[in-house]
Amino acid sequence: MEPIEFTLLPDSAVVGPDGSLFVGGCSLLELAAEFGTPLFVYDAEQIRSRCREAVAAFGTGRVIYATKAFLCRAIATLVHSEGLLLDVASGGELHVALAAGIPPSACTMHGNNKSVEELRFALSRKIRSIVVDSFDELDRLDALHAEGSPAPDVLLRITPGVHAHTHEYIATGQDDSKFGFNLATGDAERAVHRASASSSVNLVGFHCHIGSNVFAAASFAKAATVMAEFVAPFALPQLVLGGGLGVAYVAGEVAPTLTDWADAVLAACRDAGVQAEVSVEPGRAIVASAAVTLYTVGTVKDIPGVRTYVAVDGGMSDNPRPVLYGSGYESFAPRAPLAERPFRARVVGKHCESGDILLFDACLPADIAVGDVLAVPVTGAYGHSMGSNYNKVPRPPVVFVEGGNPTLVVRRETYEDLLRTDLG
Ligand code: LLP
Repeated sequence: MEPIEFTLLPDSAVVGPDGSLFVGGCSLLELAAEFGTPLFVYDAEQIRSRCREAVAAFGTGRVIYATKAFLCRAIATLVHSEGLLLDVASGGELHVALAAGIPPSACTMHGNNKSVEELRFALSRKIRSIVVDSFDELDRLDALHAEGSPAPDVLLRITPGVHAHTHEYIATGQDDSKFGFNLATGDAERAVHRASASSSVNLVGFHCHIGSNVFAAASFAKAATVMAEFVAPFALPQLVLGGGLGVAYVAGEVAPTLTDWADAVLAACRDAGVQAEVSVEPGRAIVASAAVTLYTVGTVKDIPGVRTYVAVDGGMSDNPRPVLYGSGYESFAPRAPLAERPFRARVVGKHCESGDILLFDACLPADIAVGDVLAVPVTGAYGHSMGSNYNKVPRPPVVFVEGGNPTLVVRRETYEDLLRTDLG
């Protein structure tokens, strides 16, 4: 089996003088030695370059980073400094964004079940907008207004009845969805009438999001066309077409670029005569391929005639995507990034269940051994953010690398951290 495909690695990945892999001018082996494993390593310049591509393609003020993909103060600051707005999907995400110094006017709030407290928090900070998901939420906003909260700018999340081709758990645009006001049932129309007549909200536009890790630009164009038809009579200033652009995780996958995505979406909007300002909310496409996770191999168990298990020091607690969605990944040894990978094995984590799988059928160098650092690329989105403390394993640190310098932006959790909320 071939060496790792370099297109799956961060932009700045190069083979260093010692034959090992460097990212952002830093040796992955040295980073593993300095910060320990598991470790998330992000190529900061790549994130910047994806932000710039998105802003160039969609326009200034029209790209909203979906913080659920990966959020800490450093990433919030980085994407905001590149001109992106931030989408938060909970009070917690809003808290972290504001703690990073992001102005409330750059934050928009999502969520299919925002609590009264979350809404009150968002209103008290006067964030840019709230994407309203349900009639119950409109009730809550009425009640908050009655108690003195200001009337926020809102968009209505519309469920357009467009089925995106992706994993069932992350498809959101189809009629059978917990999200939004359905077009097909007439709820969307009813929500517009209610919100336009209400003095507790200021309706400024519409939103839709058909799903995540979508590769077919045509699905986005379809949603844009359906939305364009629905929004036309109301002539509101904003139309947000969600996130969802897929990325390549394994060899052979080819995803549209941010520019391709913009071309498809904006052409569909133009053809449909959309007058509103069109924005998007990418998460994965901004951060996923900027990161690699480094692990250390701890055990190699061969079961003749069955398979070999290679266990590393992380697992479903730092990347639950394989377990949740059956997602595929690649791996390689940073000490030999150009090595052929003829050895097939299942790469598993250290958690106490058989489902704790990182790579179902990995291709590894023939000489992979206990103590080796193993790297898994394209882990920058929905890895750290969906991480857990399962088995009370402390969550890994995050390092941004750039120009030969590593910056620790999230430290490793300690055993003390595991007791922080435990009152005994
Ligand atoms: N906007 C809304 C309203 C969303 O719900 C999402 C993702 C995004 C934007 C960003 O989507 P992206 O560009 O990152 O695809 N945990 C799953 C993904 C869940 C996505 C949820 N919503 C995964 O690991 O694949």
